Amino acid sequence: MEKMWAGRFKKELDKTANDFNSSISFDSKMYRQDITGSMAHAAMLKAKGIIPADAADTIIDGLEKILADMESGTLAVDLECEDIHMFVEKVLTERIGDAGKMLHTARSRNDQVALDLRLYMRDEVNEIIALLLELIDVICDKAEENRDAIMPGYTHLQRAQPITFAHHILAYGMMLRRDVTRLRDALARMNESPLGSCALAGTTYDTDRDMTAAALGFDGVMLNSMDGVSDRDYCVELMSAFATLMMHLSRFSEEIILWSSWEFKFVELDDSFTTGSSIMPQKKNSDMAELVRGKTGRVYGNLMGMLTVLKGLPLAYNKDMQEDKESIFDSVETVKMCLKVFCPMIATMSVIKENMLRAAQNGFINATDLADYLVKKGMPFRTAYKTVGQLVALCIDEKTVLEELPLETYRGYSDLFREDLYNEISLKTCVEKRISKGGTGLASVNEQIAFLRAFIGE
Ligand code: ARG
Repeated sequence: MEKMWAGRFKKELDKTANDFNSSISFDSKMYRQDITGSMAHAAMLKAKGIIPADAADTIIDGLEKILADMESGTLAVDLECEDIHMFVEKVLTERIGDAGKMLHTARSRNDQVALDLRLYMRDEVNEIIALLLELIDVICDKAEENRDAIMPGYTHLQRAQPITFAHHILAYGMMLRRDVTRLRDALARMNESPLGSCALAGTTYDTDRDMTAAALGFDGVMLNSMDGVSDRDYCVELMSAFATLMMHLSRFSEEIILWSSWEFKFVELDDSFTTGSSIMPQKKNSDMAELVRGKTGRVYGNLMGMLTVLKGLPLAYNKDMQEDKESIFDSVETVKMCLKVFCPMIATMSVIKENMLRAAQNGFINATDLADYLVKKGMPFRTAYKTVGQLVALCIDEKTVLEELPLETYRGYSDLFREDLYNEISLKTCVEKRISKGGTGLASVNEQIAFLRAFIGE
């Protein structure tokens, strides 16, 4: 096939070099954005009298038909074309003749690809935000159902203090909320149009960049054409936000895997989100959560790849930048897939409250509360800490728990102890008493749910 840039060349491009150079196998994903961008460009060329009005109308009409045909599947991408930009222009010219050759006036593939990727990412990120909001909603539902589910809270993976399952998973709701805000921040910053930067230096035509920017939903134009064609900061920002979001899903996955084990058995995933073993008949594996945890690696890797591609590039466009797409597309697809499976996996997960409570009863997780009891009766904290430490040691020796020790034993250690200590160290009281803002107490949990629900509703 004759290249669009064939004029100055005496030989055809080598076949292997041609395959190496081609990006259509992956950039055809952006056909919708490419065509929309071209329609805005043609409308501007018409408005500014840069090309004849009837030619512009024919172009726009032709582009609309190409878009419809691609959407319906009647027009397939021709992999012989170098990239999606050339494919669309080639089909247009085949269909409408010479008018099609006017479309690329006052434009370059450099600003075209910069535009397409920005538009593509804007669409995809909005989809990812919607999925995140859905997951936050599911977390709020689960929290509401489990406001009374007492479990051990851990530090160093050692039982530490009693909390509720609601409080625990709401922590993930907060992380995901930050992920949404991070993506929105990046969206706001990237919403400037590179179109009209042309190859690198702008153009001699009297174009109206504000017009195309407004038509494509941008807040304004990029003010430096060199920056316009070579900026991929938004890819780095978005991929970094994706990496953080995957880190959150991965930590959540890790806990689900742990909680699903027989050692914990705090939760049970629905059969429809688990798999069996080919040899061990008893197995029920948390493959989905493991895959989310595993796929975090490639999303991190893609970020590092993008930064590395960009680091040595002189201004302005370099072909290296074609390498931006596969990695960011992979991150987008991975994040979307992970969220799409995570949401229903959490929604259908059952919480085994008895097991959580049993685990909470066996780790002296009310020891801090017993120390606080003494402090409130006048003992300095450090002394109270030591007294309770000795009582815990005694319990361990005698294979009992703080709740079971008789009052006489307590009074042997301090005469501040009274009958009311038992109420103070009941797990229910320990949770209810954590009334500080952001704590595990009920009022705080309710406040957190309301906060996240309001965020989703905005
Ligand atoms: N396929 C190219 C890319 O993805 C499009 C831009 C090509 N521009 C150029 N001057 N070769 O970056």
